[in-house]
Amino acid sequence: MPVTDRTGLAALEIRNFRNLERADLTFDPGLNLITGANASGKTSLLESIYYLGRVRSFRTSVADQAIRYGQQGFRLVGRVQAPSGQPVTVGIERNAGHYTVHMGGQSVRRLSDLAGNFPVQVFSSDTASILDGGPRQRRHTLDWALFHVEQRYRDTWQRYTRALRQRNAALRAQASEGEITAWDAELLETAQAIERFRNAYLVNLSPYLQAEMERLLPGAELTLQYLRGWPAGVELGVALADSLSRDRVHGYTRHGPHRADFRLLMDGHPVAAHCSRGQQKSILLGLMLAQVCYQQAVTGTAGAFLLDDLTSELDEAHQSRVLASLRELDAQVFVTAIRSDSVNLSIWSPGRVFHVEHGSVREVV
Ligand SMILES: Nc1ncnc2c1ncn2[C@@H]1O[C@H](COP(=O)(O)OP(=O)(O)OP(=O)(O)O)[C@@H](O)[C@H]1O
Ligand SMILES: [Mg+2]
Repeated sequence: MPVTDRTGLAALEIRNFRNLERADLTFDPGLNLITGANASGKTSLLESIYYLGRVRSFRTSVADQAIRYGQQGFRLVGRVQAPSGQPVTVGIERNAGHYTVHMGGQSVRRLSDLAGNFPVQVFSSDTASILDGGPRQRRHTLDWALFHVEQRYRDTWQRYTRALRQRNAALRAQASEGEITAWDAELLETAQAIERFRNAYLVNLSPYLQAEMERLLPGAELTLQYLRGWPAGVELGVALADSLSRDRVHGYTRHGPHRADFRLLMDGHPVAAHCSRGQQKSILLGLMLAQVCYQQAVTGTAGAFLLDDLTSELDEAHQSRVLASLRELDAQVFVTAIRSDSVNLSIWSPGRVFHVEHGSVREVV
């Protein structure tokens, strides 16, 4: 097992988050199993943990949906073991349409500052739509992982989106050709850098992905096909020039890395259309685990991995492969299941088990 700095969530206070009125919990640095009947609050608990790393939900883009019915706001306070070695307290409040975020007693302005302290990855029925949903979510999956392994990516990405926004504003304002193409030099320079970072990332990720797939679905050959966001065989500058008149009609820039996407193929067939539900779950988990594994190799920290509904769609053999892969990762793991006896915990010691009932969480000892 790799030796890494133990990062993760040591403790969490929850107030008025979904159906969780109040919970004060301490977690294991290894496995935390969360059990309970349907609608007890298991996914809500995972969602609150995810919030501490990302300041957003994986279930909704409407933050106020997570406020407990009839309440003004929610509050989450977590003690995070950061890569620097010192535990830091992170507080997130949502009230009157705003977030207030604190870290180590200081107010946090750039939410991206939080992410490095507590990298968190989730797999749930909502993330499963990465396979068959629109490209935005897939792009985000790649980009989020890249932000964590390549410091320079964030700046480059910000420069690119700034130039893109300006160019789109000029397009919408029916500005002159010169005013529109004035942004192209910055756009092209940063697009090329993004392209280099993404290609390098995918090359580096590949052995991790192969290793995960070998473990989770032995014998299957998985290919990740990257689509860069403009036509093959054409330079971006040419693609931009060719589509200028169309871009003016639509009021936005149609080509560039902001339109990138990827496709997963198993034995040459598109995964979403060709694979069984269980295979799809294993494949997507394999991709996420590979990303976390590579992140761990680069940064020395795996962060937390949240896995909602381990047992759904996976037979026992595949569940134990997933658990073995998670164990290998040495990340902090939060897994939900309806019953604890359905999960084979023998490879984790000791781990903690929590039971959720009508929104109250207790540790099972
Ligand atoms: N803002 C809210 N305030 C109060 N309760 C909410 C809020 N949003 C959702 N709920 C309720 O919280 C309950 C718990 O939902 P959750 O998705 O966490 O359950 P779960 O334990 O994951 O169930 P399942 O096993 O079916 O996935 C549900 O009954 C849901 O309707
Ligand atoms: Mg659930």
